[in-house]
Amino acid sequence: MNIIEIILKKKRGEALTREEIRFFARGAADGSLPDEQLAALLMAICLRGMTPQETADLTMEMMHSGEVVDLSGVGGVCVDKHSTGGVGDTTTLVLTPLVAACGAKVAKMSGRGLGHTGGTLDKLESIPGCTVSLSQEAFVAQVRRIGCAVIGQTGDLVPADKRLYALRDVTGTVDSVPLIASSILSKKLAAGAHAIVLDVKTGSGALMQTLEDSVELAQAMVRIGTLAGRPILAMVTGMDQPLGTHVGNALEVKEAIDILSGRADGKSADLREVSMLLGEQMLLAAGAAPSRDEARRRLEHALESGAGLEKLREMIAAQGGDARVCDDTGLLPRARYILPVPAMRDGYVCSMDTTGIGYVAQGLGAGRARKTDVIDPAVGLVMAVRIGERLCEGEPIAYIHANDEARGRAAVERMQQLVRLSDAQPQRPPLVLAEVTPQGVRRA
Ligand code: URA
Ligand code: CA
Repeated sequence: MNIIEIILKKKRGEALTREEIRFFARGAADGSLPDEQLAALLMAICLRGMTPQETADLTMEMMHSGEVVDLSGVGGVCVDKHSTGGVGDTTTLVLTPLVAACGAKVAKMSGRGLGHTGGTLDKLESIPGCTVSLSQEAFVAQVRRIGCAVIGQTGDLVPADKRLYALRDVTGTVDSVPLIASSILSKKLAAGAHAIVLDVKTGSGALMQTLEDSVELAQAMVRIGTLAGRPILAMVTGMDQPLGTHVGNALEVKEAIDILSGRADGKSADLREVSMLLGEQMLLAAGAAPSRDEARRRLEHALESGAGLEKLREMIAAQGGDARVCDDTGLLPRARYILPVPAMRDGYVCSMDTTGIGYVAQGLGAGRARKTDVIDPAVGLVMAVRIGERLCEGEPIAYIHANDEARGRAAVERMQQLVRLSDAQPQRPPLVLAEVTPQGVRRA
Protein backbone atom coordinates (compact mmCIF):
# COMPACT_ATOMS: atom_id res chain seq x y z
CA MET A 1 0.00 0.00 0.00
CA ASN A 2 1.19 3.52 -0.82
CA ILE A 3 0.86 6.10 1.95
CA ILE A 4 1.13 9.01 -0.49
CA GLU A 5 -1.93 7.75 -2.36
CA ILE A 6 -3.79 7.48 0.95
CA ILE A 7 -2.85 11.06 1.88
CA LEU A 8 -3.95 12.31 -1.59
CA LYS A 9 -7.22 10.43 -1.32
CA LYS A 10 -8.05 12.03 2.02
CA LYS A 11 -6.86 15.40 0.72
CA ARG A 12 -9.55 15.11 -2.01
CA GLY A 13 -12.11 14.39 0.72
CA GLU A 14 -12.69 10.73 -0.13
CA ALA A 15 -13.40 8.02 2.44
CA LEU A 16 -10.57 5.60 3.26
CA THR A 17 -11.05 1.84 3.33
CA ARG A 18 -10.50 -0.29 6.44
CA GLU A 19 -7.28 -1.63 4.88
CA GLU A 20 -5.95 1.87 4.22
CA ILE A 21 -6.77 2.89 7.79
CA ARG A 22 -5.06 -0.25 9.13
CA PHE A 23 -1.92 0.59 7.14
CA PHE A 24 -1.90 4.07 8.73
CA ALA A 25 -2.56 2.87 12.34
CA ARG A 26 -0.01 0.04 12.12
CA GLY A 27 2.54 2.34 10.52
CA ALA A 28 2.08 4.80 13.41
CA ALA A 29 2.45 2.05 16.02
CA ASP A 30 5.45 0.18 14.58
CA GLY A 31 7.37 3.20 13.33
CA SER A 32 7.33 2.14 9.66
CA LEU A 33 5.69 5.44 8.63
CA PRO A 34 7.65 8.66 9.26
CA ASP A 35 6.35 11.67 11.21
CA GLU A 36 5.86 13.87 8.12
CA GLN A 37 3.54 11.45 6.34
CA LEU A 38 1.56 10.74 9.50
CA ALA A 39 1.29 14.48 10.15
CA ALA A 40 0.14 15.18 6.58
CA LEU A 41 -2.59 12.57 6.84
CA LEU A 42 -3.63 13.88 10.28
CA MET A 43 -4.01 17.38 8.82
CA ALA A 44 -6.03 16.04 5.87
CA ILE A 45 -8.32 14.17 8.30
CA CYS A 46 -8.60 17.33 10.40
CA LEU A 47 -9.69 19.41 7.37
CA ARG A 48 -11.76 16.81 5.46
CA GLY A 49 -13.26 14.82 8.34
CA MET A 50 -14.16 11.14 8.43
CA THR A 51 -17.40 9.24 7.93
CA PRO A 52 -18.82 7.36 10.95
CA GLN A 53 -17.54 4.12 9.38
CA GLU A 54 -14.02 5.48 8.92
CA THR A 55 -14.00 6.79 12.50
CA ALA A 56 -15.09 3.40 13.82
CA ASP A 57 -12.49 1.63 11.66
CA LEU A 58 -9.74 3.97 12.89
CA THR A 59 -10.76 3.32 16.51
CA MET A 60 -10.68 -0.47 16.11
CA GLU A 61 -7.37 -0.42 14.23
CA MET A 62 -5.81 1.83 16.90
CA MET A 63 -7.19 -0.38 19.68
CA HIS A 64 -5.60 -3.45 18.07
CA SER A 65 -2.26 -1.70 17.51
CA GLY A 66 -1.14 -2.98 20.94
CA GLU A 67 -2.17 -5.03 23.96
CA VAL A 68 -5.83 -5.37 24.97
CA VAL A 69 -6.76 -5.93 28.62
CA ASP A 70 -9.03 -8.82 29.53
CA LEU A 71 -11.24 -7.97 32.52
CA SER A 72 -13.27 -11.17 32.46
CA GLY A 73 -11.45 -12.19 35.67
CA VAL A 74 -12.99 -9.48 37.88
CA GLY A 75 -16.19 -11.40 38.47
CA GLY A 76 -18.77 -8.91 37.23
CA VAL A 77 -19.58 -6.17 34.78
CA CYS A 78 -16.80 -3.56 34.73
CA VAL A 79 -18.00 -0.06 34.08
CA ASP A 80 -15.70 2.82 33.22
CA LYS A 81 -16.26 6.55 33.18
CA HIS A 82 -14.24 8.92 31.05
CA SER A 83 -14.18 12.70 31.18
CA THR A 84 -12.85 14.67 28.23
CA GLY A 85 -11.07 16.81 30.82
CA GLY A 86 -11.76 19.88 32.86
CA VAL A 87 -10.72 21.99 35.82
CA GLY A 88 -11.61 20.98 39.38
CA ASP A 89 -13.14 17.87 37.82
CA THR A 90 -12.74 15.34 40.63
CA THR A 91 -15.74 13.15 39.80
CA THR A 92 -13.58 10.01 39.48
CA LEU A 93 -12.45 10.19 43.11
CA VAL A 94 -16.02 10.73 44.30
CA LEU A 95 -17.87 8.21 42.17
CA THR A 96 -15.41 5.32 41.86
CA PRO A 97 -15.79 4.34 45.55
CA LEU A 98 -19.50 5.23 45.60
CA VAL A 99 -20.34 3.14 42.55
CA ALA A 100 -18.22 0.24 43.86
CA ALA A 101 -19.99 0.50 47.22
CA CYS A 102 -23.25 0.02 45.29
CA GLY A 103 -22.06 -3.25 43.78
CA ALA A 104 -20.67 -2.40 40.34
CA LYS A 105 -17.04 -3.10 39.45
CA VAL A 106 -14.91 -0.10 38.54
CA ALA A 107 -11.56 -0.92 36.90
CA LYS A 108 -10.20 2.43 35.83
CA MET A 109 -7.11 3.29 33.89
CA SER A 110 -6.74 7.02 34.29
CA GLY A 111 -4.46 9.65 32.86
CA ARG A 112 -2.16 12.40 34.04
CA GLY A 113 -2.79 16.11 33.76
CA LEU A 114 -2.77 17.40 30.20
CA GLY A 115 -2.51 21.11 29.33
CA HIS A 116 -4.75 23.06 31.69
CA THR A 117 -6.66 19.99 32.92
CA GLY A 118 -5.85 17.88 35.96
CA GLY A 119 -5.28 14.13 35.96
CA THR A 120 -6.59 11.56 38.41
CA LEU A 121 -3.23 9.76 38.67
CA ASP A 122 -1.46 12.91 39.86
CA LYS A 123 -4.25 13.48 42.39
CA LEU A 124 -4.01 9.95 43.82
CA GLU A 125 -0.22 10.19 44.07
CA SER A 126 -0.62 13.20 46.37
CA ILE A 127 -1.85 10.75 49.02
CA PRO A 128 1.24 9.66 51.00
CA GLY A 129 2.36 6.21 49.82
CA CYS A 130 -0.38 5.73 47.22
CA THR A 131 0.78 4.07 44.00
CA VAL A 132 -0.94 3.96 40.63
CA SER A 133 1.46 1.43 39.11
CA LEU A 134 -0.05 -2.03 39.48
CA SER A 135 0.58 -5.09 37.33
CA GLN A 136 -2.41 -6.27 35.32
CA GLU A 137 -2.78 -9.27 37.65
CA ALA A 138 -2.75 -7.08 40.78
CA PHE A 139 -5.22 -4.70 39.13
CA VAL A 140 -7.72 -7.45 38.30
CA ALA A 141 -7.25 -9.06 41.74
CA GLN A 142 -7.94 -5.76 43.53
CA VAL A 143 -11.12 -5.09 41.53
CA ARG A 144 -12.26 -8.62 42.19
CA ARG A 145 -11.61 -8.27 45.95
CA ILE A 146 -12.81 -4.73 46.77
CA GLY A 147 -14.70 -3.67 43.65
CA CYS A 148 -12.49 -0.84 42.40
CA ALA A 149 -9.01 0.27 41.39
CA VAL A 150 -7.67 3.39 39.68
CA ILE A 151 -4.28 2.96 38.04
CA GLY A 152 -2.12 4.20 35.17
CA GLN A 153 -1.97 2.36 31.87
CA THR A 154 -0.24 -0.99 32.14
CA GLY A 155 1.58 -2.64 29.30
CA ASP A 156 1.62 -1.39 25.78
CA LEU A 157 -1.93 -0.17 25.22
CA VAL A 158 -2.72 1.66 21.96
CA PRO A 159 0.83 2.52 20.86
CA ALA A 160 -0.66 4.14 17.73
CA ASP A 161 -2.29 6.78 19.94
CA LYS A 162 0.90 7.52 21.84
CA ARG A 163 2.61 8.44 18.58
CA LEU A 164 -0.33 10.19 16.93
CA TYR A 165 -1.29 12.14 20.05
CA ALA A 166 2.22 13.53 20.44
CA LEU A 167 2.26 14.53 16.74
CA ARG A 168 -1.21 16.14 16.95
CA ASP A 169 -0.08 18.16 19.93
CA VAL A 170 2.62 19.86 17.86
CA THR A 171 0.90 20.09 14.43
CA GLY A 172 -2.36 21.88 15.31
CA THR A 173 -4.45 18.76 14.74
CA VAL A 174 -5.89 18.11 18.20
CA ASP A 175 -9.35 19.59 17.63
CA SER A 176 -10.84 17.08 15.20
CA VAL A 177 -13.91 15.06 16.20
CA PRO A 178 -12.85 11.79 14.47
CA LEU A 179 -9.31 12.07 15.87
CA ILE A 180 -10.43 12.82 19.44
CA ALA A 181 -13.20 10.20 19.39
CA SER A 182 -10.90 7.44 18.06
CA SER A 183 -8.11 8.44 20.47
CA ILE A 184 -10.35 8.25 23.55
CA LEU A 185 -12.43 5.22 22.58
CA SER A 186 -9.49 3.11 21.37
CA LYS A 187 -7.99 3.47 24.86
CA LYS A 188 -11.25 2.78 26.70
CA LEU A 189 -11.91 -0.34 24.60
CA ALA A 190 -8.31 -1.58 24.95
CA ALA A 191 -8.53 -1.10 28.73
CA GLY A 192 -11.27 -3.71 28.72
CA ALA A 193 -14.34 -1.85 30.07
CA HIS A 194 -17.58 -3.77 29.53
CA ALA A 195 -19.71 -0.62 29.74
CA ILE A 196 -18.73 3.03 29.28
CA VAL A 197 -20.14 6.32 30.58
CA LEU A 198 -18.69 9.45 28.99
CA ASP A 199 -18.62 12.93 30.48
CA VAL A 200 -18.10 15.34 27.60
CA LYS A 201 -17.29 18.75 28.98
CA THR A 202 -18.39 21.95 27.27
CA GLY A 203 -17.58 25.60 28.01
CA SER A 204 -14.62 27.85 28.78
CA GLY A 205 -12.57 25.14 30.51
CA ALA A 206 -13.27 22.30 28.04
CA LEU A 207 -11.53 20.84 25.00
CA MET A 208 -14.70 21.55 22.99
CA GLN A 209 -15.95 24.97 24.01
CA THR A 210 -19.23 25.10 22.06
CA LEU A 211 -22.27 22.93 22.74
CA GLU A 212 -22.59 21.92 19.06
CA ASP A 213 -19.02 20.58 18.90
CA SER A 214 -19.43 18.81 22.25
CA VAL A 215 -22.64 17.08 21.14
CA GLU A 216 -21.00 16.05 17.86
CA LEU A 217 -18.05 14.53 19.76
CA ALA A 218 -20.42 12.73 22.15
CA GLN A 219 -22.42 11.31 19.21
CA ALA A 220 -19.26 10.10 17.47
CA MET A 221 -18.08 8.27 20.60
CA VAL A 222 -21.48 6.74 21.39
CA ARG A 223 -21.70 5.48 17.79
CA ILE A 224 -18.26 3.82 18.05
CA GLY A 225 -18.98 2.18 21.41
CA THR A 226 -22.28 0.85 20.10
CA LEU A 227 -20.59 -0.59 17.00
CA ALA A 228 -18.06 -2.24 19.35
CA GLY A 229 -20.95 -3.88 21.19
CA ARG A 230 -20.57 -2.06 24.53
CA PRO A 231 -23.34 -0.28 26.42
CA ILE A 232 -22.35 3.39 26.18
CA LEU A 233 -23.83 6.79 26.85
CA ALA A 234 -22.56 10.36 27.12
CA MET A 235 -23.57 13.30 29.25
CA VAL A 236 -22.55 16.74 28.05
CA THR A 237 -21.84 18.77 31.20
CA GLY A 238 -20.88 22.37 31.84
CA MET A 239 -17.27 23.53 32.27
CA ASP A 240 -17.84 27.30 32.33
CA GLN A 241 -16.35 27.35 35.83
CA PRO A 242 -14.26 24.82 37.76
CA LEU A 243 -16.65 21.96 38.62
CA GLY A 244 -15.47 21.62 42.20
CA THR A 245 -14.11 24.48 44.28
CA HIS A 246 -10.66 22.89 44.72
CA VAL A 247 -8.11 22.89 41.88
CA GLY A 248 -4.80 21.11 42.51
CA ASN A 249 -3.88 17.56 43.45
CA ALA A 250 -4.06 17.16 47.24
CA LEU A 251 -6.72 19.91 47.30
CA GLU A 252 -8.97 17.89 44.99
CA VAL A 253 -8.46 14.74 47.06
CA LYS A 254 -9.52 16.76 50.10
CA GLU A 255 -12.71 17.96 48.37
CA ALA A 256 -13.60 14.41 47.29
CA ILE A 257 -13.12 13.17 50.86
CA ASP A 258 -15.16 16.09 52.20
CA ILE A 259 -18.03 15.14 49.87
CA LEU A 260 -17.83 11.44 50.75
CA SER A 261 -17.81 12.27 54.47
CA GLY A 262 -20.62 14.82 54.25
CA ARG A 263 -18.32 17.64 55.36
CA ALA A 264 -18.24 19.58 52.05
CA ASP A 265 -19.88 23.00 51.98
CA GLY A 266 -22.63 24.09 49.58
CA LYS A 267 -20.14 25.34 46.99
CA SER A 268 -19.17 21.71 46.27
CA ALA A 269 -22.81 20.95 45.31
CA ASP A 270 -22.14 20.94 41.55
CA LEU A 271 -19.28 18.45 41.84
CA ARG A 272 -21.41 16.27 44.10
CA GLU A 273 -24.38 16.43 41.72
CA VAL A 274 -22.45 15.67 38.51
CA SER A 275 -20.78 12.75 40.33
CA MET A 276 -24.19 11.42 41.34
CA LEU A 277 -25.64 11.80 37.82
CA LEU A 278 -22.67 9.97 36.26
CA GLY A 279 -22.85 7.39 39.06
CA GLU A 280 -26.52 6.72 38.25
CA GLN A 281 -25.61 6.06 34.63
CA MET A 282 -22.72 3.79 35.65
CA LEU A 283 -24.95 1.66 37.88
CA LEU A 284 -27.53 1.40 35.10
CA ALA A 285 -24.91 0.55 32.46
CA ALA A 286 -23.42 -2.12 34.74
CA GLY A 287 -26.84 -3.60 35.36
CA ALA A 288 -26.38 -2.94 39.09
CA ALA A 289 -29.63 -0.96 39.44
CA PRO A 290 -33.00 -1.43 37.73
CA SER A 291 -33.85 2.27 37.26
CA ARG A 292 -32.34 5.70 37.53
CA ASP A 293 -34.38 6.48 40.66
CA GLU A 294 -33.24 3.30 42.33
CA ALA A 295 -29.62 3.98 41.32
CA ARG A 296 -29.89 7.44 42.85
CA ARG A 297 -31.38 6.05 46.05
CA ARG A 298 -28.52 3.58 46.43
CA LEU A 299 -25.85 6.21 45.74
CA GLU A 300 -27.38 8.61 48.29
CA HIS A 301 -27.45 5.79 50.80
CA ALA A 302 -23.81 4.88 50.13
CA LEU A 303 -22.92 8.53 50.67
CA GLU A 304 -24.93 9.03 53.86
CA SER A 305 -24.02 5.70 55.47
CA GLY A 306 -20.30 6.31 54.91
CA ALA A 307 -20.03 3.19 52.71
CA GLY A 308 -18.51 5.27 49.88
CA LEU A 309 -15.84 6.75 52.17
CA GLU A 310 -15.09 3.27 53.55
CA LYS A 311 -14.61 2.02 49.98
CA LEU A 312 -12.17 4.87 49.28
CA ARG A 313 -10.26 3.91 52.46
CA GLU A 314 -10.03 0.32 51.18
CA MET A 315 -8.88 1.43 47.75
CA ILE A 316 -6.18 3.77 49.10
CA ALA A 317 -4.93 1.09 51.51
CA ALA A 318 -4.92 -1.57 48.75
CA GLN A 319 -2.75 0.76 46.64
CA GLY A 320 -0.26 1.30 49.48
CA GLY A 321 -1.52 4.74 50.56
CA ASP A 322 -2.14 6.19 54.01
CA ALA A 323 -5.92 5.66 54.34
CA ARG A 324 -5.99 7.81 57.46
CA VAL A 325 -6.30 10.82 55.11
CA CYS A 326 -9.98 9.83 54.82
CA ASP A 327 -10.45 10.71 58.50
CA ASP A 328 -7.94 13.54 58.72
CA THR A 329 -7.35 15.46 55.49
CA GLY A 330 -4.71 17.46 57.41
CA LEU A 331 -2.38 14.53 56.66
CA LEU A 332 -2.37 15.50 52.96
CA PRO A 333 0.48 17.74 51.74
CA ARG A 334 -0.23 21.39 52.49
CA ALA A 335 1.16 24.54 50.91
CA ARG A 336 3.21 27.09 52.87
CA TYR A 337 1.27 30.19 51.74
CA ILE A 338 -2.48 30.72 51.44
CA LEU A 339 -3.19 34.04 49.72
CA PRO A 340 -6.70 35.48 49.25
CA VAL A 341 -7.64 36.92 45.83
CA PRO A 342 -9.65 40.07 46.62
CA ALA A 343 -12.39 41.27 44.25
CA MET A 344 -11.39 44.55 42.60
CA ARG A 345 -14.96 45.91 42.53
CA ASP A 346 -18.54 45.21 43.68
CA GLY A 347 -20.58 43.02 41.35
CA TYR A 348 -21.94 39.66 40.28
CA VAL A 349 -19.56 36.93 39.18
CA CYS A 350 -20.62 36.72 35.51
CA SER A 351 -18.01 34.56 33.77
CA MET A 352 -14.65 32.89 34.21
CA ASP A 353 -11.83 31.94 31.90
CA THR A 354 -11.74 28.41 33.23
CA THR A 355 -8.88 27.30 30.98
CA GLY A 356 -6.90 30.24 32.36
CA ILE A 357 -7.71 29.14 35.94
CA GLY A 358 -6.38 25.67 35.09
CA TYR A 359 -3.16 27.27 33.85
CA VAL A 360 -2.87 29.30 37.08
CA ALA A 361 -2.88 26.04 39.05
CA GLN A 362 -0.38 24.55 36.59
CA GLY A 363 1.86 27.63 36.96
CA LEU A 364 1.89 27.17 40.75
CA GLY A 365 3.25 23.65 40.19
CA ALA A 366 0.02 21.58 40.17
CA GLY A 367 0.58 20.54 36.55
CA ARG A 368 3.40 20.12 34.07
CA ALA A 369 4.45 22.66 31.44
CA ARG A 370 6.94 20.09 30.09
CA LYS A 371 6.67 16.33 30.23
CA THR A 372 9.63 16.11 32.62
CA ASP A 373 8.32 18.65 35.18
CA VAL A 374 7.76 17.37 38.72
CA ILE A 375 4.37 18.09 40.27
CA ASP A 376 3.97 19.82 43.63
CA PRO A 377 1.04 17.94 45.20
CA ALA A 378 0.20 20.68 47.71
CA VAL A 379 -0.35 23.72 45.51
CA GLY A 380 -3.38 25.02 43.63
CA LEU A 381 -6.34 27.20 44.44
CA VAL A 382 -9.72 27.10 46.13
CA MET A 383 -12.56 29.03 44.51
CA ALA A 384 -14.68 31.02 46.97
CA VAL A 385 -17.46 31.95 44.51
CA ARG A 386 -19.67 30.43 41.81
CA ILE A 387 -21.08 32.21 38.75
CA GLY A 388 -24.15 34.26 39.76
CA GLU A 389 -22.94 35.17 43.26
CA ARG A 390 -22.58 38.79 44.36
CA LEU A 391 -19.36 40.12 45.86
CA CYS A 392 -18.26 43.39 47.43
CA GLU A 393 -14.89 44.94 46.61
CA GLY A 394 -12.16 43.30 48.68
CA GLU A 395 -14.07 40.08 49.36
CA PRO A 396 -12.24 36.90 48.32
CA ILE A 397 -12.84 35.37 44.90
CA ALA A 398 -10.48 32.48 45.66
CA TYR A 399 -7.51 31.45 47.78
CA ILE A 400 -4.15 30.64 46.20
CA HIS A 401 -2.19 27.77 47.80
CA ALA A 402 1.48 28.31 46.95
CA ASN A 403 4.87 27.09 48.10
CA ASP A 404 6.66 30.06 46.52
CA GLU A 405 5.46 33.49 47.60
CA ALA A 406 6.32 35.32 44.37
CA ARG A 407 4.51 32.74 42.23
CA GLY A 408 1.58 32.98 44.63
CA ARG A 409 1.40 36.79 44.26
CA ALA A 410 1.51 36.48 40.45
CA ALA A 411 -1.34 33.95 40.63
CA VAL A 412 -3.44 36.38 42.71
CA GLU A 413 -3.12 39.08 40.03
CA ARG A 414 -3.86 36.67 37.20
CA MET A 415 -6.97 35.34 38.96
CA GLN A 416 -8.35 38.88 39.30
CA GLN A 417 -8.38 39.07 35.49
CA LEU A 418 -9.80 35.58 34.90
CA VAL A 419 -12.93 35.97 37.06
CA ARG A 420 -15.13 38.73 35.62
CA LEU A 421 -17.63 40.79 37.64
CA SER A 422 -20.65 42.66 36.23
CA ASP A 423 -23.48 44.89 37.47
CA ALA A 424 -26.23 42.72 35.97
CA GLN A 425 -27.02 39.40 37.62
CA PRO A 426 -26.19 36.57 35.20
CA GLN A 427 -27.98 33.23 34.92
CA ARG A 428 -26.39 30.28 36.65
CA PRO A 429 -24.97 28.02 33.94
CA PRO A 430 -26.69 24.62 33.59
CA LEU A 431 -24.93 21.51 34.90
CA VAL A 432 -26.11 19.11 32.21
CA LEU A 433 -26.67 20.36 28.67
CA ALA A 434 -27.44 17.16 26.80
CA GLU A 435 -27.54 13.41 27.06
CA VAL A 436 -26.46 11.30 24.10
CA THR A 437 -27.52 7.64 23.90
CA PRO A 438 -27.53 5.18 20.98
CA GLN A 439 -31.19 6.25 20.54
CA GLY A 440 -30.36 9.92 20.02
CA VAL A 441 -29.69 13.29 21.62
CA ARG A 442 -31.79 14.77 24.40
CA ARG A 443 -31.04 18.39 25.15
CA ALA A 444 -31.67 19.79 28.62
N1 URA B 1 -8.06 12.97 25.21
C1 URA B 1 -7.53 11.94 24.52
O1 URA B 1 -7.22 10.91 25.06
N2 URA B 1 -7.39 12.08 23.17
C2 URA B 1 -7.73 13.19 22.52
O2 URA B 1 -7.59 13.26 21.32
C3 URA B 1 -8.27 14.27 23.25
C4 URA B 1 -8.43 14.12 24.61
CA1 CA C 1 -8.11 13.46 32.12
